[in-house]
Amino acid sequence: MSILITGATGLLGRAIYAQCQAQFPTLDIIGTGFSRAQAPLVQLDLNDAAAVRAFFAKYQPSVVIHAAAERKPDVCENDPEQTLALNVETSRLLAELCHEQQSRLFFISTDYVFDGKNAPYAENATPNPLNFYGKSKMMAEQAIVAINPSHTIIRVPVLYGEVEYLAESAVTVIAQQIQQNPQSSHDHWAVRYPTHVADVAQTIADLIALPAAQSAGIFHVSDSQAMTKYDMACVIAAALGQNASSLVAVPEPTQSAARPYNCALKDTRLKQLGIVHSRKFDVAIQQIITRS
Ligand SMILES: NC(=O)c1ccc[n+]([C@@H]2O[C@H](COP(=O)([O-])OP(=O)(O)OC[C@H]3O[C@@H](n4cnc5c(N)ncnc54)[C@H](OP(=O)(O)O)[C@@H]3O)[C@@H](O)[C@H]2O)c1
Repeated sequence: MSILITGATGLLGRAIYAQCQAQFPTLDIIGTGFSRAQAPLVQLDLNDAAAVRAFFAKYQPSVVIHAAAERKPDVCENDPEQTLALNVETSRLLAELCHEQQSRLFFISTDYVFDGKNAPYAENATPNPLNFYGKSKMMAEQAIVAINPSHTIIRVPVLYGEVEYLAESAVTVIAQQIQQNPQSSHDHWAVRYPTHVADVAQTIADLIALPAAQSAGIFHVSDSQAMTKYDMACVIAAALGQNASSLVAVPEPTQSAARPYNCALKDTRLKQLGIVHSRKFDVAIQQIITRS
């Protein structure tokens, strides 16, 4: 039996790869990446359908966790064709291959499938994305569910965790902005729920350990601390030993691709299963920044 993780060179994929290795030591854990793939990870261009089919035939994974994607909204907005290819078509292909081989698929989606106007969102709330990134992830969800409604959709909010460089995540980049400019400006409009990748990874591993019928369908994985980017910046400034009072709060949206106001995800299904992994943002971010 083997577990395949796409996007294993990325922020979340690295955490999932490490968690699966720790939690399933008797299974083969296969991680793929693209530009950053180095052994033991395998390079696989997910846009190359023939290569993906050949990879599946060779490894025959019994579980696939599909974390690879283009996740930067501004990049998606400016390159819809590439976004559809990677975010939608590769997800459709993996769903088909998993369905054919009776493998379990865990697809990583986003809170940006919602418009942010009616938080909190239950797992069965109706998506209405505001930007092309959210739209591409919604289209991928729909394609996957149409192929096999028993596949698993995992929606997550903004993520943070151990980074290769501070600008790698939308949360740790704030530390870089503060280091470069102690009077830097930060969005104080959109409400976010920063969630540690290790908690998402642990949650997914717990779901894999359940019988397939219990992990079918949509799950919301989210920490519960509501924060704007400015709120995060104040915590990060303190972690850096800097004076948060110099930071500037911007009370309106600051980014070019439209962002939802508040996409709080209700994780009712996970709570019913007793799967809850959470941590304090101030403690976790201090550890990450100290190590970076
Ligand atoms: N980060 C967040 O705040 C956030 C929030 C909500 C949802 N999500 C979702 O969570 C998942 C993981 O996000 P992340 O932050 O870990 O993303 P990430 O750090 O940007 O990593 C993206 C991954 O996709 C891989 N990839 C890109 N193009 C590829 C291609 N053509 N073929 C194969 N692999 C390719 C990258 O490989 P290389 O780097 O090796 O090229 C990398 O491993 C995504 O589905 C994302 O939509 C993320």
